[in-house]
Amino acid sequence: MSIRTLDDLLGEGVSGRRVLVRADLNVPLDKQTGAITDDGRIRAVLPTLKALVSAGAKVVVFSHLGRPKGAPDPQFSLRPVAGRLGELLGAPVHFAEDTVGDSARSTVEGLADGQVALLENLRFNKGETSKDDAERGAFADQLAAFGDAYVDDAFGAVHRRHASVHDVPARLPHVAGRLVLREVEVLSKLAGEPEHPYVVVLGGSKVSDKLAVIEALLPKVDRLLIGGGMCFTFLKAQGHEVGSSLLEEEMVQTCRNLLERSEGKIMLPVDVVAADAFAPDAAHDTVRADGIPSKRVGLDIGPETVAGFAAALKGARTIFWNGPMGVFEMEAFAHGTRGVAEAIAKADAFTVVGGGDSAAAVRALGLDESNFDHISTGGGASLEYLEGKTLPGIAALEN
Ligand code: 3PG
Ligand code: MG
Repeated sequence: MSIRTLDDLLGEGVSGRRVLVRADLNVPLDKQTGAITDDGRIRAVLPTLKALVSAGAKVVVFSHLGRPKGAPDPQFSLRPVAGRLGELLGAPVHFAEDTVGDSARSTVEGLADGQVALLENLRFNKGETSKDDAERGAFADQLAAFGDAYVDDAFGAVHRRHASVHDVPARLPHVAGRLVLREVEVLSKLAGEPEHPYVVVLGGSKVSDKLAVIEALLPKVDRLLIGGGMCFTFLKAQGHEVGSSLLEEEMVQTCRNLLERSEGKIMLPVDVVAADAFAPDAAHDTVRADGIPSKRVGLDIGPETVAGFAAALKGARTIFWNGPMGVFEMEAFAHGTRGVAEAIAKADAFTVVGGGDSAAAVRALGLDESNFDHISTGGGASLEYLEGKTLPGIAALEN
């Protein structure tokens, strides 16, 4: 792999040069207040930004936030992120009200050496996510005009063929930032020859999102533990009733095939916390996974399942975990995620937590991040990496 790195760029000298940094500052926001609920992704790019600031670069950061539809939408503004980034850097961040318009232009032009600007949400512009090469290219031209070099530190977005990820690096000297480098280093260990037993824990809501990674991982792992909303489609595939739990009816047959081919490697919940409603204070109790009453909704894995998963994790030498085991944002349904996270933290294994949600869960549950070898900032990106797919953002750096 011939990827140039931030150190290569720093070695050339960046003082007075404008350096564009693609970051993934797509942080979760509180639905009511709009406050940042987890700033892990902002912290994760600090090493790259600080190195550039110390070296005297004019640093122009850009990112997406959420999924606005190609036009400005105030609920997805990066302004609060600029504030938080400034606090963490210990220096003000100059915020541009648009991405490539007048405000962006004057903000970039006004930067002194060692100062940092953040442009408004990339996805306020149609060109960012366009499937049309020319439209994306035209937007990439505008972005590239703001920099003399490009650093990709947006690991969470490397699987997107978007202008800022895929087309801007084609227009400028480009390098991988510290975060992207570290992520690739860690995940390539898992994709290569992980030490066995290799146990993977998957959760989250949708089977359809995880199908490709399950297919790719099954031959490599010793055990695949499945919890979270996606487990109900598997339980249904085993012939169980799942009440009003999350269910992807069209995936049931696929899950049945996977179970048949899995050589017994797939472990499903044996008990489930089932509630009257999807609400933090809903009445709930633990039921057998093969007998979820109709009208009840499964919101977490049960204690016996946690114990079984913990036993499977105990002897592992390599662990990858993606996706919460239940609705951990509600205390009543956080025990499964907490239990599994604690079992992973205790295991004498190389442990990797992948995904925005599971990483946020680790922090939200107050677990010590240092008990894990690596907490990835990429959800979809880390899964696609493990699937062995070509990632547009990485491929762009290799060219
Ligand atoms: C993520 O949160 O997974 C990344 O920031 C990518 O966001 P996206 O899934 O909206 O492209
Ligand atoms: Mg995503």
